[in-house]
Amino acid sequence: MNVYDSEQISRVLTPLGYEITPSPGAADLIIVNTCAIRGKAEQKAFSFIGRLAGLKRKKPDLIIGVGGCVAQQEGRKILEKMRYIDLVFGTQALNRLPGHVKDIATRRCRIADIEMAPEIIEFPPGAPIVNGNITRFVTIMRGCDNYCAYCVVPFVRGREISREPENIINEIKGLVKTGVQEVTLLGQNVNSYGKKEGLCSFSALLKLVNKIEGLFRIRFTTSHPKDLSDELIFAFRDLEKLCSHIHLPVQSGSNSVLKRMNRKYTKELYLDRIDKLRKVSPDIAITSDIIVGFPGETDKDFAETLDLVRKVEFDSLFTFEYSDRTNAPAAHFSGKIPDKEKNERLRMLLELQKYYNAKRNLALVGTTELILVDGFSKKQSPVNGQNGFSGVQWTGRTSTNKIVNFVDANTLSGDDNLMGNRIDVIIEKAFSHSLWGRPVNVKPMPLRVKGEESYAA
Ligand code: 5AD
Ligand code: SF4
Repeated sequence: MNVYDSEQISRVLTPLGYEITPSPGAADLIIVNTCAIRGKAEQKAFSFIGRLAGLKRKKPDLIIGVGGCVAQQEGRKILEKMRYIDLVFGTQALNRLPGHVKDIATRRCRIADIEMAPEIIEFPPGAPIVNGNITRFVTIMRGCDNYCAYCVVPFVRGREISREPENIINEIKGLVKTGVQEVTLLGQNVNSYGKKEGLCSFSALLKLVNKIEGLFRIRFTTSHPKDLSDELIFAFRDLEKLCSHIHLPVQSGSNSVLKRMNRKYTKELYLDRIDKLRKVSPDIAITSDIIVGFPGETDKDFAETLDLVRKVEFDSLFTFEYSDRTNAPAAHFSGKIPDKEKNERLRMLLELQKYYNAKRNLALVGTTELILVDGFSKKQSPVNGQNGFSGVQWTGRTSTNKIVNFVDANTLSGDDNLMGNRIDVIIEKAFSHSLWGRPVNVKPMPLRVKGEESYAA
């Protein structure tokens, strides 16, 4: 979501004459877009902002703005604590940003704008967007009304609001014209898309997006298990552009923890949804988020989480230690878990998931997968320097969202550009977070991947 917002920030500032610079040292204006989801993200943002003080000393005309969720949460306090910051703007102030930047540039004033707007902001179509991207994010809704007990999002991103389907479709059509082939639709809880405003359902929106000519793939994130409808599950079977991957955050396998988290589903309901997804779409990849050490989580509760992980066999997991957030109700819950215990539970969870990561990736060895090539690296090529040539290592994703790296003998010099190509690869090796493939009809290349453990097939 922040990647998308950062793009919008650069779009609204382009008409003022600003353009992206390669490094902060070369900039006249620096905008730091922050995330407040966990304490670590916030600390990272502040340590980055701290490092900008030196730049301001060297270049007093430099304008520094802090936006996003930390800005929304801290507001004016940032201006008070850090004298070199000129602007603090919240999550709903993006459309007012150009005005603020202009004011600061002309009058050298300092501004804090954390006002929440009740309506959704639409940016004018046709504003410049970067060409050449193969995949892009598209926000379909903002905010969240779920109030999970640990989560800061409803407080810093405001109430849930959905964009009109027409605006979303037009935005995607515009992106397709610039060469985009895959979009990821974004919302905190896409299943409740349009419900409040009486727009169409999320599945109906997917059907509309599926019809867009020239678009190859559709992904979306995030789904809330409590609202995952049968209609959406059937979309995985019926919509040829919808990728075979769902990110379905479970957070915990213990019903008592889920209740205190205010997640409004049980472990049994979650497992039932997974069963149904796999019946309808047998190849679907399933990923999830899990928090360990939520206040009051007992060893027995944690064992329930491990049990759920064993039952589901996720393709991969994002795992987090519970972190207290200002405003989030759980900050006031008793039974806080010591860091040492949270570390240990995280370690155990990661250890268990490693096995399923390997199992799910290994199951693909020997299969042929259609991938969309979306990147390359000259430096990290496993064939670099071997056999007297330096290679280009291409990377793409399967429909199931697995990263596949490969070398194509025809593009070793880098003359031919495979970016955006849809190619069949035979999967030859599985690693912890990626696969190694060989394009069909291309001779095999020597293999050496640094820094990643290879699984024996
Ligand atoms: N502590 C730890 N993890 C959190 N998440 C959200 N809030 C917190 C918190 N306070 C995790 C959830 C969510 C993901 C985006 O971040 O797992 O799904
Ligand atoms: Fe946070 Fe829950 Fe909303 Fe997700 S659904 S953004 S975890 S409140």
